[in-house]
Amino acid sequence: MAFNSETLTASGTLASARSTTVSPDQEISAADYARFCTFLEKSSGIILGQNKEYLVKNRLRSLLEETREKTLSALLDVLENGHQNALRSRVIDAMTTNETLWFRDIYPFEILKETILPELSDKLRGQHGPLRIWSAASSTGQEAYSISISVNEFLNQSPGSLPQNVEIVGTDISQAAIEQAKEGVYDEYEILRGLSEQHQRQYFEQDGPKRRIVTEIKQRVRFQELNLLQSYSLLGQFDIIFCRNVLIYFSNEVKSDILSRMARSLKPGGYLFLGGSEPIANYSDEFDMIRCQQGVVYRLK
Ligand SMILES: C[S@@+](CC[C@H](N)C(=O)[O-])C[C@H]1O[C@@H](n2cnc3c(N)ncnc32)[C@H](O)[C@@H]1O
Repeated sequence: MAFNSETLTASGTLASARSTTVSPDQEISAADYARFCTFLEKSSGIILGQNKEYLVKNRLRSLLEETREKTLSALLDVLENGHQNALRSRVIDAMTTNETLWFRDIYPFEILKETILPELSDKLRGQHGPLRIWSAASSTGQEAYSISISVNEFLNQSPGSLPQNVEIVGTDISQAAIEQAKEGVYDEYEILRGLSEQHQRQYFEQDGPKRRIVTEIKQRVRFQELNLLQSYSLLGQFDIIFCRNVLIYFSNEVKSDILSRMARSLKPGGYLFLGGSEPIANYSDEFDMIRCQQGVVYRLK
């Protein structure tokens, strides 16, 4: 093994340089690729499929350079010894696709504002505790903050219609994504993806060359790391779950398992939003499909 794990620092980087003759650009063998796919699926549920060696090489290049670790095989030796949580987390960060934008697909946020919040405001009248919404693969925070902006707009239209607070919980497996989500600071490119000029003016303030989400929107959202393969019980029960554009990365068994545990995380009659290309029929029979004018949402039976 071309690696001494004793020299890894807490952040997963190597404390001392080692000379090596192997380039990070070298081809990945079929055996190493299979081993890496197994590691990734076990740790995150993500299935890479065939012929994605180029993706592994591109995504891990800078990590391999930074750790002075030059081969996938040596990296796997370290990961498989089971004690390198920081390095493991860096590898998962590198392999997740955090693609997201504000008000993605628009319709879930319209259904939320125009159908679900009015319904829940009647149903929950007189009940204690906040109305709770979970953004279950929140990436860098755009989805959870778009939910919070939608809640704000609903409350502006119908003041006092939600007697209780609204609590939005954003979770993701990617530590780096969750750090940015907690900061709530976005560059110009990120801001331009899905935000109207009015939303930009109303809900963001300048922070150097970037923009920061305003406290009015941020204060009802909290973020934490969570792997969807692990237990959700500490999160409590929700009225609404957004689990969008993440199930596509998982096997059919993992999809079924996640949907069944999400069903148990919803309050009776709670709602579930999935991505546009994520049909539920083959994986769960615990939800009714509700067709709204703008699109589809699922309700716990
Ligand atoms: C394509 S993004 C979708 C973000 C957002 N939901 C949206 O629709 O715009 C997928 C997210 O799922 C996260 N993810 C992948 N596997 C996960 C897992 N096992 N547990 C939690 N999050 C995961 C990734 O880190 C990434 O941020």
